Amino acid sequence: MTIDTSRFSFAVLTMSDKGSRGEREDTSGPYLVQLFRKLGYTEKAYAVIPDKVEQIREKLIAWVDEDKVDLIITTGGTGVAPTDVTPEAMADVIEKEIPGMAEAMRAESLKKTPNAVLSRAMAGIRGRSLIINLPGSEKAARENIAVLVPSLAHALDKIQGGTSDCGVG
Ligand code: MTE
Repeated sequence: MTIDTSRFSFAVLTMSDKGSRGEREDTSGPYLVQLFRKLGYTEKAYAVIPDKVEQIREKLIAWVDEDKVDLIITTGGTGVAPTDVTPEAMADVIEKEIPGMAEAMRAESLKKTPNAVLSRAMAGIRGRSLIINLPGSEKAARENIAVLVPSLAHALDKIQGGTSDCGVG
């Protein structure tokens, strides 16, 4: 049985110091919004914020605890530059990590670029929400999310206590 994706809301969060100051156009966030619209998910929010642990943490917690967003996709700040702090914020926010999601993205990305190893992206659960980090460039965001799209609806169904059969779809 296929799962109706429209029952899941999504939000996209771009982490970019320059983007948040209007000095660089964010193309990764809008790409992800379009993608999830096309996949039938229900759009809830999109924001661009600076690479600051406290701001990232607060935004993620508000979207989960107050707005009850089912799926949050972040882009940017996963790397090794001094300003990259998305995983540090994630560590404070998630209650359960899903290492397989990040492992799969890195493994698949490594076939495209040796720099795939530099992404410290995480995926995890807070409450009944799934949060997934992607690297910042539109190309990297596109290549990474493609790895997870096929398992997302089933993941969300399970996170929310669904009893769909793991053997099908
Ligand atoms: N993964 C894929 N599939 N394609 C890419 O182009 N870029 C890498 C990596 N993962 C890349 C990728 C690079 S260059 C970096 S620095 C890290 O993601 C972290 O990116 P971020 O700091 O923008 O989050």
